[in-house]
Amino acid sequence: MMRLNIPYLDDKELTEISKVLETGFLTQGPKTAQFEQIVADYIGCKYAFAMSSCTTALHLALVVLGVQSGDEVLVADFTFPATANVVVQLGAVPVLVDINLKTFTMDPVDLERKITDRTRVIIPVDAFGCAADYDSINKIAAANNLPVVEDAATAIGTKYYDRFCGNLTTLGCFSFHPRKVITTGEGGMITTNDDHLAERVKLLRSHGGVRTGSWYQYEEAGFNYRLSDVLSAIGVVQMGKLPYIVGRKREMARMLSDKLAGLDGVRVPVNPEWDGHIFQSYVILLDQKYNRDMVVAEMRELGIETTLGTYALHDQPFYQRHYEYKSGQLPKSHQAFSQTVTLPMYPQMTDDDLDQIADTLQRVLSLPDILNG
Ligand SMILES: Cc1ncc(COP(=O)(O)O)c(C=O)c1O
Repeated sequence: MMRLNIPYLDDKELTEISKVLETGFLTQGPKTAQFEQIVADYIGCKYAFAMSSCTTALHLALVVLGVQSGDEVLVADFTFPATANVVVQLGAVPVLVDINLKTFTMDPVDLERKITDRTRVIIPVDAFGCAADYDSINKIAAANNLPVVEDAATAIGTKYYDRFCGNLTTLGCFSFHPRKVITTGEGGMITTNDDHLAERVKLLRSHGGVRTGSWYQYEEAGFNYRLSDVLSAIGVVQMGKLPYIVGRKREMARMLSDKLAGLDGVRVPVNPEWDGHIFQSYVILLDQKYNRDMVVAEMRELGIETTLGTYALHDQPFYQRHYEYKSGQLPKSHQAFSQTVTLPMYPQMTDDDLDQIADTLQRVLSLPDILNG
């Protein structure tokens, strides 16, 4: 079976982990500080704080922005549920914003339409390694005096024109889950250029304690959202590999798109005008005539693991039960949820693997029972 994704790991990560184990210092310490500095330098932002996941990063980002019960937070609808779940956990209301199908990212027109006097934060999502339309989103945010939290879970190494994701908005949040561009097993990062917010992140990430002499004084009721030095050791090595991974993914995406170009009813992923796609996931959009679930099942039968793109939150039972969304209410996101397929794409794959994917997909799409209805 050709797997959907395999993290790009070798002995170097093991060596770095061993060095940390030898120190006997296993929680957040010098290795985490090194990992943070590498990320901040790479992205070109002032601060980077390692977190236990992107979910805890997003949660803390909203906490430091002062989001409270009853506030509205605008969230791109086509995303992994964590993006909006953290809003719910604060007692705030996630207001779901449709996407455009070209990039699968937040539609600025729908965003503007949904701003009210209760809106507190905007959360665009970089979809599958593609940067959202930040010129448009930041313009709307500035006009309404709203902070922007970038869900850059899939986008470490992605640029928006000449600037890196994570350095485009008030706060950026990355994920180092094994399905992402680089991994620490579990892990995340918050990036910012704002001195005050950085101070709050630092304080609240670790229980709200401030060291005064020998002890801590607890200024706030904080969290433990720290990343262990053991995992940061993996992150340090992975950051060294990031430029290669990004370059190879972009090259492979171009090759695979060429191979799929002639297939009827298949839209290959689009690299937008801001050259903002690193293809963390390579996601195609199938014409409505195809039964996507059957495509995924038949690809598996023929030895290739694929999956859906991601979720339309307004189609999920929780969001329908609590916020009265109806299936299909955000039509573009609904279409993306039902018609996208993620194909395998990782640096260890060979050119032959790409041929096999293209040939298999062609074969599957020509099966008689693959059409809807
Ligand atoms: C867009 C998006 N946001 C947030 C997350 C949550 O990341 P983590 O697993 O690091 O908490 C994911 C992970 O799948 C994601 O894809």
